[in-house]
Amino acid sequence: MGLVGLQLRWNLIIVVTNLRELLNVDNRVKCLANGAYNYENFFVQFNEKALELGPKLRQPRIEDLRGCSMFKYAPLDYIHGLTPYVKKVIGHAPIVGNHKYVLVDVKISKVQKGRWSCLRGWHCDVTMNPVRPERPEKHHLFVSGHNCLTEFVKHPSLIQFDDKIRYPNKSWIDDQLEGCSVIEVPSCQYVTYGRRTLHRGPKAKEDEIRLLVRITETDIILPIKKTIGKFYD
Ligand SMILES: [Fe+2]
Repeated sequence: MGLVGLQLRWNLIIVVTNLRELLNVDNRVKCLANGAYNYENFFVQFNEKALELGPKLRQPRIEDLRGCSMFKYAPLDYIHGLTPYVKKVIGHAPIVGNHKYVLVDVKISKVQKGRWSCLRGWHCDVTMNPVRPERPEKHHLFVSGHNCLTEFVKHPSLIQFDDKIRYPNKSWIDDQLEGCSVIEVPSCQYVTYGRRTLHRGPKAKEDEIRLLVRITETDIILPIKKTIGKFYD
């Protein structure tokens, strides 16, 4: 191999090494005992893994949802007042069971064309702090219908944090991700994702009654033993 060939090979090794350093987030982050990170520039990889697809069920009819109780972070053994359909959905969740808590959200809403289905903006569930020391969560999400399906960032995204962004807010994340490729969740099929997984509720394309079930396996969030309402159309 000539001198030019050797030089090219050496440059390639340097590029690969730098890339590996860049992607190895944990080497670059000094995590404090309280889960905050030090004020220094570093990169965090979001949406590293593709969504895992889980069980698929048929679309609910209105009578499958009418009168169903709704919950936010309720323990699995507390939820009650569910319709047979929603009970079946929860029964099909691909729960792993390795965390302290398995918490259930049941949200049935009349989404309206052109309106946001929830607080707008890219976010991660449970915590936006990318280096909290607790074991990362597992989320299992099930959304019905065709007009208001949760959107995820499609490709792995390396985001540079700086010393002003202690706990990044949604508008800052929105700026970082402007124009990124997006993937909708499949309707009536569970998807599983982890802590550093950016997603957002979309604007509804049409009026629709939508069921959203989310199961959170977590060591951080405390269970809430209460009903947040019943769905009536
Ligand atoms: Fe979310």
